[in-house]
Amino acid sequence: MRVRKAVLPAAGFGTRFLPATKAIPKEMMPLVDRPIIQYAVEEAAASGIEQIIIVIATGRSAIEDHFDSNASLERWLEERGDIDMLRTIRRISEFGTVAFVHQREQLGLGHAVLMAKDLVGDEPFAVILSDDVMLNPSGEPVTRQLIDAHVTHRGSVIAVQRVDRQDVTRYGILDPLHEEGRLVEIRNLVEKPSVEDAPSDLAVLGRYVLTPKIFDVLEQTSRGAGGEIQLTDAIRTLIGEQPVFGYQFEGTRHDAGTRLGWLKANVAVALESEDADEFRAYIRGLDLRD
Ligand code: UTP
Repeated sequence: MRVRKAVLPAAGFGTRFLPATKAIPKEMMPLVDRPIIQYAVEEAAASGIEQIIIVIATGRSAIEDHFDSNASLERWLEERGDIDMLRTIRRISEFGTVAFVHQREQLGLGHAVLMAKDLVGDEPFAVILSDDVMLNPSGEPVTRQLIDAHVTHRGSVIAVQRVDRQDVTRYGILDPLHEEGRLVEIRNLVEKPSVEDAPSDLAVLGRYVLTPKIFDVLEQTSRGAGGEIQLTDAIRTLIGEQPVFGYQFEGTRHDAGTRLGWLKANVAVALESEDADEFRAYIRGLDLRD
């Protein structure tokens, strides 16, 4: 079955990026000239997704406003003859179908995904965590890579990449059964293991293609670490019932939900932007000695 829909959870508190995220969701922080979530929507569109479902926190409308049209701004740009910017602004609100669902209480990522159950229905779907910025400028978008793996191998597919051994404590880590090329058959998933106990260095990162069975599992999943309904816990249960694969995607990932990750993502995006030459010259001219 085709993967037509993507769920973008964006209702978290973003506590690692306070106070910037006090009044705006971290997904609205800009990367160069666009909010983080717009990169995720563009990645979804470039991956063949036709319907985006964004999970937002009740009472926070910035993301909804961003994807809505803005008649007075458009009129203002038109009157001044800024046609390029007018096109850019209109394109944002013209992306396929963007639907919003509310998460009333921040009960975790698994709970946020569950909020999209009715809109997704009985079909496989992608989950995109937009604060995991995935860049693959000369290749396939990461979501597309996962969808292709799902079409070939069926079952659910989660994005993984090798991390430094000392960093395994920050991620969900795969216990791999078998590796073949980029595909990894999974025996189990371990959430934030110690360096000694980690079964591998393959970390789960923010892209998934899941079968609708995950909703049944999420409904049965009780609160785990941090009192939250964890998507990782639900995927672990799913492994016992259906095939779940890891896919070692091609591309660079930045955790833009942290200060340092956000800074790195800005540099990476800027070096691919129309200001790249000037920016590169600026960086080269910096005195970077200690
Ligand atoms: P994170 O753990 O990165 O988000 O969740 P957070 O809780 O916002 O951030 P910190 O840890 O406090 O800094 C991963 C994704 O899941 C969403 C977040 O918006 C982010 O995209 N999320 C998380 C929800 O939509 N709802 C939740 O209850 C929790």
